[in-house]
Amino acid sequence: MCPPEHFGVLYEINPWMRRAVPVDVDRARAQWDALVAALQGAGASVELLPPVEGLPDLVFTANAGIVHRDQFVPAHFRHPERQDEVPHDVAWFEEHGFRVTRLPERGAHEGAGDALPFAGGLLSGYRFRSDAATHAQLSRLLGVPVRSVELVDPRLYHVDLTFCPLDERRAMVAPAGWDSYGCRVVQALVPEPLELSLDDALQFCANSVVVDRTVVMPACPVSVGRQLEQWGFEVVVCPMDEFLKAGGGCRCLTLALDVDLGG
Ligand code: ARG
Repeated sequence: MCPPEHFGVLYEINPWMRRAVPVDVDRARAQWDALVAALQGAGASVELLPPVEGLPDLVFTANAGIVHRDQFVPAHFRHPERQDEVPHDVAWFEEHGFRVTRLPERGAHEGAGDALPFAGGLLSGYRFRSDAATHAQLSRLLGVPVRSVELVDPRLYHVDLTFCPLDERRAMVAPAGWDSYGCRVVQALVPEPLELSLDDALQFCANSVVVDRTVVMPACPVSVGRQLEQWGFEVVVCPMDEFLKAGGGCRCLTLALDVDLGG
């Protein structure tokens, strides 16, 4: 995770971002601190990436790249506004003993924000921020299958706003974010889906962090909480509205480091 010292909405690259809406920096810091505490409370340990002035979205470490064991594949950001984050991400992973392998120059892919582990591979989104052609390249680099879903709602521009793996059999899914082929891909992939409505998804319900049986969520509608609890999960809600101004929730602010995709 990256502390929100230099977080703000300084440009507009998704439909949530409005430069005219000021970010309350102290509130953002308090929300971020509460998220760290919730993750630690659930048993996670948190490593920090130093914040950098002029890179307000560096806090969204989910987009840094994809981790698989000791391998790190850095993102190729769609928008120039985020491209200067990459050297900082790469330096951190190199310093921490990861093997950095890169995608070919052409084509965008925004890391774990657009690729989530499920069933021994990745479920990856494309259209708004990542290109479908990068999925086969990722699969080759990582040696695991990458299943593609096309994202259709610009407000749900990363796959981590539409999908949240819970355990081997279960995931929160927001079909409203996918084309009909993508819906079928997920249907075939997830034995026990927890379906989110468009309204749930627009509250960034899917943008949750799962630590063992704890689900740390930016919002949790009653019906969703009931199903999670029935499945034996504990729900912790961490309001993230300052980060929502930039189009991010709990999961975007984290990047899991203990990932083994299988394969
Ligand atoms: N402002 C950031 C952007 O538009 C938000 C990134 C949210 N990240 C995510 N994994 N959904 O790039």
